[in-house]
Amino acid sequence: MVNAAPILMDTPSSAPAKSSAYKPTVRLSPASLPSAHAPGAAAAPMGETLVDISHLDFFYNTSQALHDINLKIEAKNVTAFIGPSGCGKSTLLRCLNRMNDLIDGTRVARGTIKIHGVDIYQPDVDVIELRKRVGMVFQKSNPFPKSIYENITFGLRLQGMNDPAKLDEIVEKSLRGAALWDEVKDRLGASGMGLSGGQQQRLCIARAIAVEPEVILMDEPCSALDPVATAKVEELIQELRSRFTIIIVTHNMQQAARCSDKTAFFYLGKLIEFADTRDIFTKPANAQTEAYVSGRFG
Ligand SMILES: Nc1ncnc2c1ncn2[C@@H]1O[C@H](COP(=O)(O)OP(=O)(O)OP(=O)(O)O)[C@@H](O)[C@H]1O
Ligand SMILES: [Mg+2]
Repeated sequence: MVNAAPILMDTPSSAPAKSSAYKPTVRLSPASLPSAHAPGAAAAPMGETLVDISHLDFFYNTSQALHDINLKIEAKNVTAFIGPSGCGKSTLLRCLNRMNDLIDGTRVARGTIKIHGVDIYQPDVDVIELRKRVGMVFQKSNPFPKSIYENITFGLRLQGMNDPAKLDEIVEKSLRGAALWDEVKDRLGASGMGLSGGQQQRLCIARAIAVEPEVILMDEPCSALDPVATAKVEELIQELRSRFTIIIVTHNMQQAARCSDKTAFFYLGKLIEFADTRDIFTKPANAQTEAYVSGRFG
């Protein structure tokens, strides 16, 4: 889950650069979006609304990809985004840490996204700080071409942390947290690129949690993994859920049912239904949701 603005995030190397018209923003007050590393940081308690999306319309140039999205995401919960290809799941995920700012011609035309009550699209929001707090893990694992150890410490060093003992401690804690420590503890100096696909994805999760984000966005994190590696990542999500607010995009209905507390079903850029995962899969209120989760379309 986690590059310069991009460095602390798992930023796709293919992300197009924003045009020069893009305006940099000033720093977000730590008090308004508290950092988990900051002393006395006030993380939102479990069950409380952390991310509040209200009447969101989003465009790629003249093409509207999201229509009037209203969604409240609870803290320390796992929320799954499901829906057919092209329905806007990744677009909405990237709105949550302003990764779409990196794509020319994108705009939020209407509505707000608040995190801790702060509208993250206000011009005074520090986007780099936001992306530290809202980390991301992509479909294709993308470790840096560096050692396993340096993959974890890169973001921390950028934050100015240089104490070797502290870095060692966070490396171990993050790799343990990502259920990878036992497999790599004897080769921390080896390249992260030399790990298996499933291990690389867990390394990316370790890199994301090392900077202690509050929210972790996962865009189809298991789609390139075999069933064993998928099971490990799903177990990991269960372990991380008490510490982080997780939003996962998946095409795998069983995965959504196994992993998440709440599920949001999207179709053609609209949020069709949002409810407890159990209800979405056993008694969906909407006929389109029912057709999708039962495999009749999509
Ligand atoms: N960079 C882009 N430029 C223009 N249009 C885009 C861009 N990215 C996505 N879109 C369009 O926005 C809509 C939503 O795409 P998005 O990638 O969010 O869907 P998705 O639900 O994540 O699909 P999938 O399940 O295939 O990943 C689609 O119509 C898509 O073609
Ligand atoms: Mg997608």
